Amino acid sequence: MKAAKAKPVSESQIIMTEMVLPSDTNALGTIFGGKVVSLIDIAAAMAAGKHSRSTVVTASIDALHFVSPVKLGEYIHIKASVNYVGTTSMEVGVRVDKENPLTGEMKHTATAYLTFVALDSDGKPRTVPPIEPKTETERRRFEAAKIRRKSRMQLAEELKSHS
Ligand SMILES: CC(C)(COP(=O)(O)OP(=O)(O)OC[C@H]1O[C@@H](n2cnc3c(N)ncnc32)[C@H](O)[C@@H]1OP(=O)(O)O)[C@@H](O)C(=O)NCCC(=O)NCCS
Repeated sequence: MKAAKAKPVSESQIIMTEMVLPSDTNALGTIFGGKVVSLIDIAAAMAAGKHSRSTVVTASIDALHFVSPVKLGEYIHIKASVNYVGTTSMEVGVRVDKENPLTGEMKHTATAYLTFVALDSDGKPRTVPPIEPKTETERRRFEAAKIRRKSRMQLAEELKSHS
């Protein structure tokens, strides 16, 4: 079978912006962590879906750190791009920034790495096209994602041998 053509990262990148509404906030008037996770998962799923042009499921979300709170009325920007592709899985990196609507000041809020698996019509993992990192940043993210994938697999193996 002919190998699928590699796709550039730019072809599947996602940028989403939302305003924090009262229904998204906790008693402190800042956004719920779960709401941010949901936005991250949606943006990342769209990037993986666009890259593979197939149905995708979230296989895992790596450690996620919230580095600054987002307040009611602030804008939240979510950027997702495919960092690395295995055989049927894709690592998607997501960066979340907040924007003060009055001053335009931007601040980093969270970063996450998620793995998605592409599924065929029988719900079985299917091969996805390779990714073609072109810029220096894309190449750096590709190499870092390769290291994370290796460490995820090592951890899974170690845990398996202890169970
Ligand atoms: C993700 C899922 C399809 C993997 O199925 P599986 O039978 O374990 O598939 P395989 O062992 O053949 O692995 C397929 C790929 O997934 C990757 N993978 C499997 N589990 C993973 C995990 N926990 N984290 C990261 N990658 C994972 C494998 O490394 C492999 O990647 P590769 O093909 O690029 O090398 C399956 O576990 C599943 O359906 N999970 C539920 C997904 C879901 O419903 N998510 C929504 C939230 S509940």
